[in-house]
Amino acid sequence: MRYPDEIIEEVRQKNNIVDIVGSYVKLKKTGSNYMGLCPFHNEKSGSFSVSESRQMYHCFGCGVSGNVFTFLMEYENYTFVEALKVLAEKAGVTLPEREETAEGKRRADERNAILEINKEAATYYYYNLRNEGAKAAQNYLLGRKLTPETIKSFGLGFSGKGGGELYNYLKGKGYKDEILKESGLFTFDEARGVYDKFWNRVMFPIFDVNNRVIGFGGRVMGDGKPKYLNSPETKVFDKSRNLYGLNKARQSREKYMLCCEGYMDVISMHQAGFTNAVASLGTALTGLQAALLKRYTDTVILTYDSDEAGVKAALRAIPIFREAGITTKVLNLKPHKDPDEFIKNEGVEAFKKRIEEAENSFYFEIRVLEQNFDLNDPDGRTKFHNEMAKKLLVFTDEIERGNYIEALAAKYFISAEALTKKVNGYGAGYINPAEPARSSGSGQESSTGGYKKKKTGEEGIKESQRLLLTWLLDVPGLFDSINGIIDENDFVTPLYHTVATSVFEEYRNTGKVSPARIISLFESKEEQAEAALLFNTTLSGEKQSKEELELSITETVKKVKKNSLDYESKKASEEGNMSAFSDIIKEQAKIQNIKIRLKQTEDNYNG
Ligand code: CTP
Ligand code: MN
Repeated sequence: MRYPDEIIEEVRQKNNIVDIVGSYVKLKKTGSNYMGLCPFHNEKSGSFSVSESRQMYHCFGCGVSGNVFTFLMEYENYTFVEALKVLAEKAGVTLPEREETAEGKRRADERNAILEINKEAATYYYYNLRNEGAKAAQNYLLGRKLTPETIKSFGLGFSGKGGGELYNYLKGKGYKDEILKESGLFTFDEARGVYDKFWNRVMFPIFDVNNRVIGFGGRVMGDGKPKYLNSPETKVFDKSRNLYGLNKARQSREKYMLCCEGYMDVISMHQAGFTNAVASLGTALTGLQAALLKRYTDTVILTYDSDEAGVKAALRAIPIFREAGITTKVLNLKPHKDPDEFIKNEGVEAFKKRIEEAENSFYFEIRVLEQNFDLNDPDGRTKFHNEMAKKLLVFTDEIERGNYIEALAAKYFISAEALTKKVNGYGAGYINPAEPARSSGSGQESSTGGYKKKKTGEEGIKESQRLLLTWLLDVPGLFDSINGIIDENDFVTPLYHTVATSVFEEYRNTGKVSPARIISLFESKEEQAEAALLFNTTLSGEKQSKEELELSITETVKKVKKNSLDYESKKASEEGNMSAFSDIIKEQAKIQNIKIRLKQTEDNYNG
């Protein structure tokens, strides 16, 4: 499935990161690094640093880091392979044909076939809408005030009345039942045969960010039920990680995105010029969708329906966005139900005004909370203040929290001092059940969420492995110092094991390691980001004396070793392998005597 590592490495080495980043960001040489304004977050002073010697970038403001590949993946939203192709071309490296496993190839072929079928279906529906027999559908869309341009631009269509038209059309094109089944567009019924899933509906093709048709929504014309029918999840359609309209909204120049509930809302907003509108796909917002949006924006304005369900959906979405690092505001649509209705009734200017007036999402949460209490009653007021204090714990930054405390105190009849005391009273141990679980935690952690979570065992272990790898890359001579004590097999977290294996191997072969190469071991942005974390401490240049460093490294080596032996012993006892077991116990006894010493001669570690 992968290109050979040597080719990836060659492409990386032939593209100097300073040139690549420099073609997007204005860089200035300062000391041994280049600095500029970070392209991944809004800033006025440059915190974005590019290191030519390490061939990596890092932003001290927002924390992103990586190599040339990650940069293009982040900036251009390329996949790893897309970034690789662009950079190979730039450097004049010819990429070999990809060697794929048979299974990988079969899966890719299947996905491509489904995408092709979807595209054929979208085209079919699209032209079908222009037929005589589609008068009702045409009138329905015009009745909803969509212009022909909008209908065209969103590729809207009509599924015919026959019930088997699309099936016959695609069979005529030579598609086999086997793959048609996988497309989710048909119902295969033993008794009744095969028929089109969408029938007599206005069709909304759903595109991914790369403009490929991944599924459909179909709306009844009028009041029938269900109002919308959607494609089931297929090998190409994952509702939790796509957003309707994002293929267009990603090109908008606005700094924020509008996030709403419905297909029609998205279309209405785009038609009115708000081309930065997206919607989830008939399900509640997910963390994956928030992370997807975070690639394009830091701010989301929620334009959910103004009814009770919409408010509930907003209250669920806000913490998910917060968790993804997105600031949320809530737009008030009242007295109308949804953006579509609002724009139809009040027009574009009024909607613009509502965007400007959109409410800070925390104020929104508190305002909704307030409705559960009678503030004229001292008891009710006290209860409300307590709940408000608990909610304020979501702000872990002291200054930010202080600002909210002051603002809310002034608004809700309590002194800032009293509110501060209350908040502190709930303090560190309090777990806020309203906050969603962190995505990367262990099971134990994900059932909690909330303020200042204690590091779980698993997280601590990961951190130790991460630290040790960072030091290995950064502290000259450390490989020799730990030789015989710890090696790649002691890194048991899969991602770190991969990194460690590669790092140790490169060190044994060449006597040095190249950080940027490590990142290219991984193709997904998430894994690359996690691997890049290994180099953050390096780039921020913390100062430590040699003795302090030796102590810290020793402690960390002990932790990693202990964890690795625990892991081994668990495995041995599961397998009933008694001889391995006694070896492990001997090893465990030795841990306390571990002492890592750094070479005296080298003085170019941090300190
Ligand atoms: N939805 C769905 N299935 C339904 C109803 C709704 O999948 N039976 C999803 C659709 O994605 C829809 C969204 O939920 O776009 C919002 O629902 P709703 O507000 O009822 O629909 P609108 O998009 O506003 O459509 P319309 O304006 O035609 O009522
Ligand atoms: Mn609606």
